[in-house]
Amino acid sequence: MNQDRRGEKIKLGAFFHPTGNHVAAWLHPEAQIDAGANFRHYAQITQTAERGKFDLMFVADAVAVRDGNLEALSRWPQYMAFFDPLTLLPALAAVTSRIGLVATATTSYNEPYHIARKFASLDLISDGRAGWNVVTSSNLSEAYNFGREAHFEHGERYDRAAEFVEIVQGLWDSWEDDAFVRDRTAARYFDPAKLHSLNHKGKHFSVRGPLNVARPPQGYPVLFQAGSSEVGRELAARFAEGVFTPQHSLQSAQDFYRDLKRRMKTYGRLPEALKIMPGLNAIVGRTAKEAEEKHRFLQSKIHPEVGIELLSNALGGFDLTGYDIDGPLPEIPPQYGELSGQTSLRNVIRWGREEGLTIRQCYERFAGARGQRTLKGSPIEIADDMENWFRAYGVDGFLVHPAYLPGGLDDFVDLVIPELQSRGLFRSEYEGTTLRENLGLPRPPNRYTR
Ligand SMILES: Cc1cc2nc3c(=O)[nH]c(=O)nc-3n(C[C@H](O)[C@H](O)[C@H](O)COP(=O)(O)O)c2cc1C
Repeated sequence: MNQDRRGEKIKLGAFFHPTGNHVAAWLHPEAQIDAGANFRHYAQITQTAERGKFDLMFVADAVAVRDGNLEALSRWPQYMAFFDPLTLLPALAAVTSRIGLVATATTSYNEPYHIARKFASLDLISDGRAGWNVVTSSNLSEAYNFGREAHFEHGERYDRAAEFVEIVQGLWDSWEDDAFVRDRTAARYFDPAKLHSLNHKGKHFSVRGPLNVARPPQGYPVLFQAGSSEVGRELAARFAEGVFTPQHSLQSAQDFYRDLKRRMKTYGRLPEALKIMPGLNAIVGRTAKEAEEKHRFLQSKIHPEVGIELLSNALGGFDLTGYDIDGPLPEIPPQYGELSGQTSLRNVIRWGREEGLTIRQCYERFAGARGQRTLKGSPIEIADDMENWFRAYGVDGFLVHPAYLPGGLDDFVDLVIPELQSRGLFRSEYEGTTLRENLGLPRPPNRYTR
């Protein structure tokens, strides 16, 4: 193993899908069956991740119930009924003290003022641990809940997103850091010269400001991005400080890593201002055999109806019912997503074409990890692989997707973390108190005092 990146540490996030990442997670006898409606469960797993010294926990979001074949959906509860992240995270802030709290919020079905206000509040409530995963939404079902008959087109979504983020950052600068003098003697609460209106009038939004929340402790909550398309990467290069991405081989991870860090130069940003954290669906056993058995057990629980539904979704809605599931993946017309630039669709088509996987094999691969890379093995095997990807500049860290919860996370924290720590690759104590400090990111100065 080469010794590149000496002294640097791996960054780790924990992705909490309501019942775990595996599509059949809820059928595991040790999974928390009512996860999406059980706050105690989220408190417990977030505390476990904090015990493991994870940089952050992350919850995804969509502002709609998933649409689709109800028969299949009724066997697959993920993201059907779950907590609103920006209600959940402040509650989690109260039962943790160091771990970063990161949530998705969409720029397509929110107003910038709302988002600036909520994440600034979360950052204050958590003493500087908030992070926002900026997404543009990919489900048409979300449009129907917000007075629209159609979703914004892919390019337009990202155009809105860029303007949206600029506004949110502008609103976070409304108050200078020392605006609140709170001086009883002089009877002056804040210095009026340190309050600024944004007066934004742009292509998609008009926002006067200022924000009615003080400047967040981190200056700006940490921005994350998870789009891997051309425009998604541009948005990430311009604004993101953390990127979540599915990467299935070291080569593709290295290409993605180099590409994104190179793009940052255009925006005058340094490569270390962005941490790239590909997904890792780690299935850990005390031995490789035990990990294999755990994986096989979960795979055996995938209902074919769910597998087909999931694969159809990944293929932009292409209906696979009626095809032999043990036969080849049919030709998928390009309008089903290649045009919309969906990464998951490209991946599935590659598995079907280049690797010759059948429909069942495709959905097993996809369903098992839900589009992320699966890594099975003993703690040493998993740590070896993570170390290799890290030292070879494929990643700055990983977003760990426990297959089922809480057990999959317990395994990672109890078995893999100590192995990474003993190699000097992962912290034994948090370096700082804010998410920024732990990720090694600078605190952005206020634009009015720069
Ligand atoms: C780890 C990860 C988490 C994501 N979380 C969300 C989410 O919570 N909500 C959402 O609408 N999209 C989410 N996405 C989808 C991305 O934001 C993005 O739309 C998708 O990867 C397709 O890329 P593109 O938008 O650049 O075409 C996530 C993607 C990844 C890889």
